[in-house]
Amino acid sequence: MQILYIGGGFVGACSAAISADSGHRVLVYDVDVEKMRRLSQDDRDVIQSTIHEEGLADLLIRNRSRITFTADINQLAAFINDVEAIFMCLPTPEKGNATGESDLSFYEKAVTVLGPFIAGRQDGRQERRLVIINKSTVPIKMIHYTRELFEQQGIKNFGIVSNPEFLVEGKAIENSIHPDRMVIGAESAEDFIILRRIYQRFYDASGIQYIEVNPYEAACGKLLANFLLFNKVVAAYDVVGRTCEYFPHVSYEQVRKILVSDPRIGTWGLYDSVYAGGSCFIKDAGSLAHQLEQAGTRAALVRGTLEANTFQRDHFFNRAQTEAQFNWLNTTVAVVGLAFKYGTNDMRNSGAIGIIEHLIAAGVKQIKVYDPAALEECKKYFAIEKNELYKRIVYATNETEVLDQTTACIICTDWIQFKTLADTVRSIVQPPYLIMDGRRILQSQYNSLQADGYDIIAVGSPFLKGKMKV
Ligand SMILES: NC(=O)c1ccc[n+]([C@@H]2O[C@H](COP(=O)([O-])OP(=O)(O)OC[C@H]3O[C@@H](n4cnc5c(N)ncnc54)[C@H](O)[C@@H]3O)[C@@H](O)[C@H]2O)c1
Repeated sequence: MQILYIGGGFVGACSAAISADSGHRVLVYDVDVEKMRRLSQDDRDVIQSTIHEEGLADLLIRNRSRITFTADINQLAAFINDVEAIFMCLPTPEKGNATGESDLSFYEKAVTVLGPFIAGRQDGRQERRLVIINKSTVPIKMIHYTRELFEQQGIKNFGIVSNPEFLVEGKAIENSIHPDRMVIGAESAEDFIILRRIYQRFYDASGIQYIEVNPYEAACGKLLANFLLFNKVVAAYDVVGRTCEYFPHVSYEQVRKILVSDPRIGTWGLYDSVYAGGSCFIKDAGSLAHQLEQAGTRAALVRGTLEANTFQRDHFFNRAQTEAQFNWLNTTVAVVGLAFKYGTNDMRNSGAIGIIEHLIAAGVKQIKVYDPAALEECKKYFAIEKNELYKRIVYATNETEVLDQTTACIICTDWIQFKTLADTVRSIVQPPYLIMDGRRILQSQYNSLQADGYDIIAVGSPFLKGKMKV
């Protein structure tokens, strides 16, 4: 089949790669010229540093004959006549009005640019039926708006499908090759058939739930699934973690064993975190809350989960002052980990962003930062042109360099390699020294670090004052 992707970011690029790998001919159009240029190269490092997803580079290089990335809209003209499906993989961020309402302006702009090409297919006769597939996370009633936008462009003979993406960043390719579910929301049998052809490799695969519903249910299912996951992560540190911080003799790891032994609770999400970030959980919860309120009902739990997430990050940061009496003024501090989680270079809503802003506001002299994948992203977030105080940020290339000459470090990301950070700390910085572990990644070392004189603040543990050696 011939398939067009609009938006070649995390979702678009990964999904398009899988489509090409499934034997389809794929064109990916994105306004980001540089991203398209980099994804077109047969250089693993260039692809990986553009979208850090394990396996994406190999998949793209292997299927190069079937996949093209372009920022040139005119390439659509040659491709559009035989296109059977268009995947919309555009950003749907929260609007600036802080209500949670989705900003659909990226979607609107893309339809305006695409419109003349789609309406002009088969010399304007538009004989071949086309399916517009919303892969972006969109409002529950998006199908109405999608129809309106495409009809305004004079586009005919099309169906609209909601096919939400459930991939997990850091495991996007693995998740896309072995998804646990495919959710297809369509209104006509014809469109379900087209989608089954696109997803033939998943439709009849054992172990994959291929779920066909209506478009409202599909869009709603995505928002609700994300809310339940978000709520669980937030409850893990805002309730479970905090309880363990405030009650002596209660170890987070021991309590966790008790909790996860109940299969209804399960193991996922019961790790402690400084903040549940990323591109989806926060904005999707905001969108859900907004839609519930617009529908005339309450969204208190959804709003409360959002509030608890922010509270946790700020509470964690403030513990340095309230519990360890640490004064940030004129200090040099290491921020270890910048991506919102391990396995990605994505910094959208990363806990590290808020922590760095707090450090700057607290008057630190220098913030040394390190991440195995997200340094370039960090430079974009903290460009000096935005705020000249960002010149206090110094970019380190490894764990040793980031810790050197600091008086405290804050671990924000759960990269596996940070599990050995305790040894680096011991060899590079001497007590008095404050370690703030937002991920409990050093939990097996807390007692020995404390015995060696290091002060420790960890999500889910009371403050551990370093023991001075006699
Ligand atoms: N990232 C995830 O883990 C994930 C998972 C599931 C669902 N989603 C949803 O998928 C959607 C896309 O997310 P993403 O993470 O891929 O975002 P992204 O920012 O990585 O990618 C979006 C791409 O769209 C491009 N774009 C913007 N305007 C355009 C236009 N007018 N025409 C063509 N391209 C344009 C951008 O340049 C960017 O490359 C969002 O709705 C998101 O909520 C994301």
